[in-house]
Amino acid sequence: MSAPKRQRQSFIDWLDERANIKPLMNEMLYHRVPKIVNPLDFLGLATLFVFINQMLTGMFLAMFYEASAKTAYQSIQYIMDKVPLGWVIRDLHYWGANAMVVLVAAHALRGYYVGAYKKPREITWITGVVLLFITILFAFTGYLLPWDQQSYWATMVGTWMPFYAPFVGIYVAYLARGGTYISGLTLTRFYSIHMLVLPALLLVFFGIHFAMVLKNQMLVVEEAEKKPKGTKGLVTFYPYTVFQMTMLIVIVAIVLLILALSQHAPLLAPADPLNKAHYNPVPLWFFFSIYQLLKYIPPVLDPLGIVGLPAVAVIVLIALPFFDKNPRHEPRRRPWAMSIAGVSVAAILFLTYLGAINQGIPTGGGSGGGGTVAVVQKPSFKTDIEPIFQTHCAVCHSGSNATAGLDLTSYASIQSKGITKGSTYEQTILWQKLTGKLQPQMPLGGTPLPKTTIQTIANWIAEGAPNN
Ligand code: HEC
Repeated sequence: MSAPKRQRQSFIDWLDERANIKPLMNEMLYHRVPKIVNPLDFLGLATLFVFINQMLTGMFLAMFYEASAKTAYQSIQYIMDKVPLGWVIRDLHYWGANAMVVLVAAHALRGYYVGAYKKPREITWITGVVLLFITILFAFTGYLLPWDQQSYWATMVGTWMPFYAPFVGIYVAYLARGGTYISGLTLTRFYSIHMLVLPALLLVFFGIHFAMVLKNQMLVVEEAEKKPKGTKGLVTFYPYTVFQMTMLIVIVAIVLLILALSQHAPLLAPADPLNKAHYNPVPLWFFFSIYQLLKYIPPVLDPLGIVGLPAVAVIVLIALPFFDKNPRHEPRRRPWAMSIAGVSVAAILFLTYLGAINQGIPTGGGSGGGGTVAVVQKPSFKTDIEPIFQTHCAVCHSGSNATAGLDLTSYASIQSKGITKGSTYEQTILWQKLTGKLQPQMPLGGTPLPKTTIQTIANWIAEGAPNN
């Protein structure tokens, strides 16, 4: 009797007999969920889908990409021109990366808006904040890999940022670059971080994030269940929600594909570390707001803008569930939370917009107020010249292993290198380096110094470069 029955046994039964999956499947597929869901509550799913796109396209790219200063650029060209459909894969990866940053940020904002960071979902929120920063690091490390002018100089600008942190800043900056400036060493470490370190970290934090979502269920589900009987509007997860999710994924996939097919990921001229072509460094778009802000604050506050504000943002985001004890979820009942976030988001968006139409780092390579500096007629080394070198040059030219053996923070070193020697200031190496008469122009990779500042230095040299 039992023999023919067993032959008609389905695969599910076969698996259930061995792995006892039926209770789990029933729980997963037939649990009750709200019938109507705001698409914004699916942003997490959209992000996950785009991440899977990144993983798959990334694996294909890795089959052809060669991470070395000599071959990286050519291998990208090869992918674009020779590999069948290689360009689609790269464009999907590029647009997926941008979409990830936007989607993760939007997902976090939605979570903030509905109050999903509140008890008992604190762990979900904190792991989410970590995932946001992992995403930004993914984009940042990936940006260097094509090794073209844009990626090279954007990374020069970006790895400059930690330099402004007190005490450890310079070590962090050097560690990120693998030296004083961007080289093949930077490339290989960014590549290894991009495809080994970050994916591992992401899987760990996403695992916790997702497990907590399953454990505590989504806020929308919890709220629907609290409603009085008969008005709950609950349906089973399968097929209703599964259908909604599938539709969303199809839409995201179509949008990605349209972007990838209509606009190539950029590939400029190959990276030129001496910047002979005078490429004007542009930071990554999600740093636009920071660099735009720097244009409005005095240079002494630069460290606050570049390191202070982002650090405060991270701390506030992580600590948010602990100092916002208001148990209410409805946005109407949280006027403070809504107004503070509203103003911050509007400010960031506005600064990003201004930064986008007005690209580039502030005049003077990292310090504001460039063009308006007054010329000093009889400059003193201590009060006029040294501060210029400190802000614009010290990141490379300071300390015992300063670039080109030139420590611009020490008068003795400036003397011994003879860069101010010449019968007129036009003949000195220093002046020629600052004006570009002698290539590469200094500050290497930064915006040239304002003419007035160069004139101040010229006046100092004309006075005989005194140590006053
Ligand atoms: C991003 C790193 C970096 C920054 C910032 C930078 N330099 Fe340089 N500098 C270099 C490198 C690399 C060299 C060697 C390349 C060359 O000139 O052939 C160099 C060389 C020089 C030289 C020539 C030294 C010699 O003995 O020939 C002078 C002078 C100089 N820099 C001045 C400056 C001044 C002044 C500033 C600030 C306005 C500055 N540099 C900012 C990296 C930098």
